[in-house]
Amino acid sequence: MTRKYDFLVIGSGIAGITYALKAAKFGKVAILCKTTLDESNTSFAQGGIATVMYEPDNFEKHIKDTLIAGDGHCNFAAVDKVIREAPAAIEDLLHFGVNFDKQKNGQFDLHREGGHSEFRILHHKDNTGFEIQESLVREIKAHPEIDVFEYHFAIEILTQHHLGEWVTHHTPNIECYGAYVLNQRTNHIHTFLSKVALLATGGIGNVYLTTTNPGIATGDGIAMAHRARAIVKDMEFVQFHPTALYHPGEKPNFLITEAIRGYGAVLRTVDGKEFMHKYDERGSLAPRDIVARAIDNEMKIRGDNFVYLDVTHKDAPTTKKEYPTIYKKCLELGIDITKEFIPVTPTQHYLCGGIEVDLNGKTSINRLYAAGECSCTGLHGANRLASNSLLEAVVYANAAVTDAAELIQYLTFNDKIPEWNDEGTSLPEEMVLITQSFREVEQIMSTYVGIVRSNLRLKRALSRLEIIYRETENLFERSVVSREICELRNVISVSYLIIKQALARKESRGLHYTMDYPKKMIND
Ligand code: FAD
Ligand code: SIN
Repeated sequence: MTRKYDFLVIGSGIAGITYALKAAKFGKVAILCKTTLDESNTSFAQGGIATVMYEPDNFEKHIKDTLIAGDGHCNFAAVDKVIREAPAAIEDLLHFGVNFDKQKNGQFDLHREGGHSEFRILHHKDNTGFEIQESLVREIKAHPEIDVFEYHFAIEILTQHHLGEWVTHHTPNIECYGAYVLNQRTNHIHTFLSKVALLATGGIGNVYLTTTNPGIATGDGIAMAHRARAIVKDMEFVQFHPTALYHPGEKPNFLITEAIRGYGAVLRTVDGKEFMHKYDERGSLAPRDIVARAIDNEMKIRGDNFVYLDVTHKDAPTTKKEYPTIYKKCLELGIDITKEFIPVTPTQHYLCGGIEVDLNGKTSINRLYAAGECSCTGLHGANRLASNSLLEAVVYANAAVTDAAELIQYLTFNDKIPEWNDEGTSLPEEMVLITQSFREVEQIMSTYVGIVRSNLRLKRALSRLEIIYRETENLFERSVVSREICELRNVISVSYLIIKQALARKESRGLHYTMDYPKKMIND
């Protein structure tokens, strides 16, 4: 079956939903998500969303903090845009019904996180993402112009390559006409034709054995864009959050928000000693690449599996009131955080790279936009400043709608796109093989492509991955399409991109640290 929409939105996190709500003013919108509307990285966000609110803070300080965290690799125009447009983005969220905590005097209650020189994080207790997602989902469900497709998995974007017409970056001039989509309830593959499409498919966490990301984060948008020959960049900059709760066997790993360090929590080795000042004068509040590497180093030197986060010196009723989700979660595991240290360990958390977009959210493929974690705007550079990603998603979703709304009046649907061809794909899926290959990819990435890298480790990862890639492509050609085999292909593509781009960077910068080139090149 073929469906036609002016705007096709793939993903229902903060980027996809804020885009859809705005695009609906200009045409018909379809929003797809591979599970339910509310399962997203967005729902898991704890700390909050950064914006300049009150003096003594100002845009210049927020810009400076973002550039410092980004370690000389940010796109200044993107940084300037996002930070100056932040107040308008917050207004949008308030308009959509999002509730941020306020103080008794009516002012917003601001938190501070690693790398921020001021208190500027708007939050809803310690579950800001849940509040945002819930409010946006409420809006979208009530919107008459938006069709929602849950359990609809985008397999590939539809493109036609006009070879011979060359544009920037030597990429062939490619058009996107929509996507092939698997309805997971009926197992039918539908063609969704669109005038413009937005990839808002979120993160890649499940490429690694441990991650704070939910199961949906398998880098599908990045892999689809790569297969369609879009430019994908900065993939080597994988962010490991310093403080995920150490609880072996649990996936996703529960996050202990960085805001709790802004509140005063201190990192300690297992024998109770503070160690961060050995690594950075900002101590436990240094940017997260520095903190994650310091923890990794302490754990390796001492042979420990975790370090501690100590909040016991803070006022217990305030801790319970400000961090109720963390308090409850730890208590369930027998840890009263007002009296006992919290065991924590660095864990994959975020990807700074992704599908390259310009200041309007346009990818290198015509009619295809990207926003949120799957995109690479250049805001984060080599390391994202905490709580800048929710903000980036809203700002760029808005930019993409503004651009596309101008464009769609000149565009038509491409009715010549053929239906999905599944000839010769009669093999029933071999779930054991798929699951096993998935585990192998996670193992390879966690063992060889983690916080500390080297050429030897990266090359070993690549050669192991190549075997799984060949086996999987072979299986894919012969099997009935399923979400599982598509996700496996996608995590392989994303892993490949991370390794290749890590091998290409002959220096250590931000989140990419390699023992072969421990220094930063100065000319970036
Ligand atoms: P997501 O919210 O991840 O949404 C992705 C959507 O894409 C989902 O609807 C999914 O179903 C859909 N999708 C994916 N693939 C397909 C497919 N093939 N077909 C159909 N649909 C598909 N950032 C901050 O700024 N502040 C924070 O405090 C913060 N805390 C965080 C805490 C945690 C635990 C985590 C995991 C992240 C945190 N982040 C935080 C990062 C931030 O939450 C994410 O970067 C952001 O929410 C990503 O939003 P998104 O819209 O790009 O994607
Ligand atoms: C956190 O709350 O520590 C996460 C913030 C972020 O990832 O931006």
